[in-house]
Amino acid sequence: MNTSNPLFLRALHKEVLTTPPIWFMRQAGRYMPEYRKVRKNFSNFLDMCKNPDVCCELALQPIDAFNLDAAILFSDILTIPDAFGLNVNFVEGKGPIFSNSIDTAKDISNLPQFDPDKLDYVYKAVSNIKNSLSDNIPLIGFSGSPWTLTAYSIEGKSSQDFSKTLNFLKTNESDVHSLLLKYTDACFLYIRKQVQSGADVIQIFDSWANLLPNEDLKIFSLDYISSLISALKLDPITKNTPIILFARDPKCNAKTLIDTSADCISLYWKMKNFNIDEAKDKVALQGNLNPKILLEDEEVIKSETIKVLNNFKNFPGYIFNLGHGITPDIDPSKVKFLTEIIRGY
Ligand code: CP3
Repeated sequence: MNTSNPLFLRALHKEVLTTPPIWFMRQAGRYMPEYRKVRKNFSNFLDMCKNPDVCCELALQPIDAFNLDAAILFSDILTIPDAFGLNVNFVEGKGPIFSNSIDTAKDISNLPQFDPDKLDYVYKAVSNIKNSLSDNIPLIGFSGSPWTLTAYSIEGKSSQDFSKTLNFLKTNESDVHSLLLKYTDACFLYIRKQVQSGADVIQIFDSWANLLPNEDLKIFSLDYISSLISALKLDPITKNTPIILFARDPKCNAKTLIDTSADCISLYWKMKNFNIDEAKDKVALQGNLNPKILLEDEEVIKSETIKVLNNFKNFPGYIFNLGHGITPDIDPSKVKFLTEIIRGY
């Protein structure tokens, strides 16, 4: 093994390491005062994402503050639906609002062809961040999963239960499949451009996997993720780029996730019964401290972190992460404390 490789890439190649590499989902964001200071200058969050210099500054903030082992592109998963003309705005206290959500089957057939160049601002952010990072800190690019992008596009906003989406799915199944296919093709082109611009690793966020029961999860989400990954593995530009799959609270077993051919599975914090032995030598694993533990006092953070570290001890290819993103209510000093516990383990 090449020990001069960054720790994060060594873990993704399933090496056993004495201390795991560390990064956190949503490591850049509102919990950091440095972030809030920059955020004040923009009323619409997506306008901030369209400024590659600002994205670069924001992606580097957690690297500078916590000495992490990987940076993640600063952007959002909803850039693709926005580029399709669904017009996404982020409204304070409400989250994303689509002014042209998908309401009818006709809205799907009328969608324009995806133009990956509309997202040039994202690729420019990738190259700016890559050029500002030292060689030992890989850069993670990302995309939403076809299903998660579809769910937001039909719902038109964040929701607890996505009832509009699930009802639409019941009566327009084949149209939903055609939207999933359009998003799969768009994700492929989008990811390829991120890799061409300097992303070393890609994470796919299936943040609404939890909406689908087992059999439907495969049909409407994981099968599209598998075909996206197989296209990436066949393409000369992306074939060697490790792919991490995060699925939120998926109603399926370890094997079903591993069967997508992702190189690494990012475990949701509730996935206590994920069979680690089944994953051994097949995939790397990332996770999975409950992010809400960071609201507890240091003693609790320490003991819960040690439990996670013990659980993955000796697993070939383990990356420390949370089981979902850092929330705005978390104190950055707790994040610092957490990284010190892991490094000292
Ligand atoms: O360090 C990082 O991870 C920053 C880059 C990043 C953001 N969003 C920035 C962001 C990433 C990787 C995402 C992914 C994302 N976006 C996901 C998948 C991850 C997950 O949590 O499951 C999802 C579902 C979204 C969609 C989204 N973006 C929502 C629903 C919202 C509003 C609610 C919320 O959590 O704030 C956003 C906004 C958003 N994306 C913010 C940030 C920093 C906050 C925007 C603000 O400052 O107002």
